[in-house]
Amino acid sequence: MTSRYDAEYGAWRRDPEAFWARAAEDIHWDKRWDKVLEAGKPPFYRWFVGGRVNTCFNALDRHVDAGHGDRLALIYDSPVTGQKKTYTYRAFRDEVAKLAGAIAAEGVKAGDRVIIYMPMVPEAVMAMLACARLGAVHSVVFGGFAANELATRIDDAKPVMVLSASCGIEPGRLVAYKPLLDGAIDLAKHKPKACLVLQRDQQRCELVEGRDRDWRETVAKAAPVGCVSVAATDPLYVLYTSGTTGAPKGIVRDNGGHLVALHWSMKNIYGMQPGEVYWAASDVGWVVGHSYIVYAPLIYGCTTILYEGKPVGTPDAGAFWRVISEYKCAAMFTAPTAFRAIKRDDPKGTLIGKYDLRHFRTLFLAGERCDPDTLYWAQEHLKVPVIDHWWQTETGWSIAANCMGLGMLPVKPGSPTRAVPGYDLQVLDGAGRPVKPGDIGAIVAKLPLPPGSFPTLWNAEQRYVDSYMKEYPGYYKTGDAGFIDQDGYVFVMARTDDVINVAGHRLSTGAIEEVLASHPDVAECAVIGAADSMKGQVPLGFLVLKAGVHRADADIVAETVKMVRDRIGPVAFFKVATVVKRLPKTRSGKILRGTMQKIADSETYKAPATIDDPGVLPEITEALRAVGYARGKMA
Ligand code: COA
Ligand code: AMP
Repeated sequence: MTSRYDAEYGAWRRDPEAFWARAAEDIHWDKRWDKVLEAGKPPFYRWFVGGRVNTCFNALDRHVDAGHGDRLALIYDSPVTGQKKTYTYRAFRDEVAKLAGAIAAEGVKAGDRVIIYMPMVPEAVMAMLACARLGAVHSVVFGGFAANELATRIDDAKPVMVLSASCGIEPGRLVAYKPLLDGAIDLAKHKPKACLVLQRDQQRCELVEGRDRDWRETVAKAAPVGCVSVAATDPLYVLYTSGTTGAPKGIVRDNGGHLVALHWSMKNIYGMQPGEVYWAASDVGWVVGHSYIVYAPLIYGCTTILYEGKPVGTPDAGAFWRVISEYKCAAMFTAPTAFRAIKRDDPKGTLIGKYDLRHFRTLFLAGERCDPDTLYWAQEHLKVPVIDHWWQTETGWSIAANCMGLGMLPVKPGSPTRAVPGYDLQVLDGAGRPVKPGDIGAIVAKLPLPPGSFPTLWNAEQRYVDSYMKEYPGYYKTGDAGFIDQDGYVFVMARTDDVINVAGHRLSTGAIEEVLASHPDVAECAVIGAADSMKGQVPLGFLVLKAGVHRADADIVAETVKMVRDRIGPVAFFKVATVVKRLPKTRSGKILRGTMQKIADSETYKAPATIDDPGVLPEITEALRAVGYARGKMA
């Protein structure tokens, strides 16, 4: 099949507003928009201004009303508890309507915020959709974050309510959510009025009198409520993501543009048909979970899978193939790190042969750079197209992809293919000038960004401008560096800021440094992302101790490791730090993290001309060797 990509991309370029207005016809509007794009206040752009809509209606009620109430909306598959459960669209709509009734009874109304801190259970998806039903703004916090991170988000979002559960389940251990929730509410200045807590059989918890409600009892008594019509430009959710400092950025997603973009993406990027089974093996706490476990598959009328397990160890490296075959899954989406874990446990892909994967058409990978080895391994063993695509929490859906619904383009390993319609990508040099094809620079997208991407940051309009829109006027700075080749293929190589990517999870080295710096014996510190064959990158800490500290280095390192786990959470995966006498710096005092990273990764490097004292580099090399890094050439 010849690709229709060029025709579609060309149609978008010729008339972006007509393009998105056409796509918007696939959505149910309570009131049609007055204006497709409001562009009067750059860099703030708004899509479908004047339109009124409800996201939950489009994700559930609409399909029931159209006669698809008996179609499966959600399959819950939980190898960590041994449970499986399915919900039809009708049953799921009814559950969500009752939960929305329970939340509304606590006084939550359109525009109010609700924090959701939950493991991968169907109630987490219901919680998101129940908020959407009421026009309330949800903010899901990933379960691997600690109380302190949750508290930061509570103080920023100021939720009326928190929805949570007694525990999450990680292989080999239970994660007690309730002490983390209680700790966060103690730490936070803002106090939510009520918490709805789902008691799980694996570990129940105490409820705080007057504040906490038992989920099941409360919902059983609640009356179902209908969908509240909201402005297309009203926020659907806020999802916090790592920036360069410890203060996370609240990415805002609106209702109308998000509906339009996600519906378009299911058909054109993922090549799906309504009624088919689609699986994103991520977590509802990440943007991939928001867009492709919850919203897109349901808006489009597919069946989505909610998988509470891991790619390996639950029980083995055949877990993904079991799920794909059991539910006749047509497309799956995960991060390359999951495949590296599978490849490590089952290098020859022997377990794949045990399952009938006849219905499986495409594997999609994102969240981090897809290394060619992982791509080849997956292609060879699964014998289906393996599609790398690039996106960010900020954009909510792909910036660059091989649009399978438009006919596949040739794959170039290491590239997420070409800009999707909606994105005019360019690569700029330090002075903001376009570079030649193949030359590396900052990847930017010409404004306006398409529907579905973030219109602003929660409570932080100026930060939106300063972080993303200021450096290259007229463009959105993606924070990624890379190049575009002569065929228009994008290659995303590295971040230009302090963000690192650990097992497909986005973390801020600045946030980890803030924790290390608060250790009483630490005078100065730095964190870099060192290359890791499984997780892509892992954080690595350097500690300079205060004068007069004579405690054992190992004790101080162990304390900092515990502090990061307690304050940021296990997901930071901060396990290794080393004590050094001093850090390499420029003469103006800037820490040379990039040089340290090159040494750790055993890459060849040149000491920058601006370095204050080159003699520090051999010391750093030695310290890194002692913790298993810098195994290559001596500096
Ligand atoms: N709640 C509490 N703790 C959690 C958690 C959660 N929801 N998720 C992860 N953690 C913990 C893990 O238990 C681990 O703790 P440990 O240091 O005590 O072992 C730590 O956080 C690091 O987790 P992770 O980096 O995910 O490592 P892992 O060894 O548990 O799993 C993979 C590695 C590759 C299997 C897993 O990261 C994975 O499946 N990733 C791909 C899918 C994905 O998450 N994509 C996101 C964007 S698409
Ligand atoms: P997140 O906001 O957590 O989705 O992380 C977004 C970041 O992950 C991007 O800015 C990239 O650095 C990285 N990323 C995501 N997908 C890809 C990809 N396909 N190729 C390279 N990097 C990617």
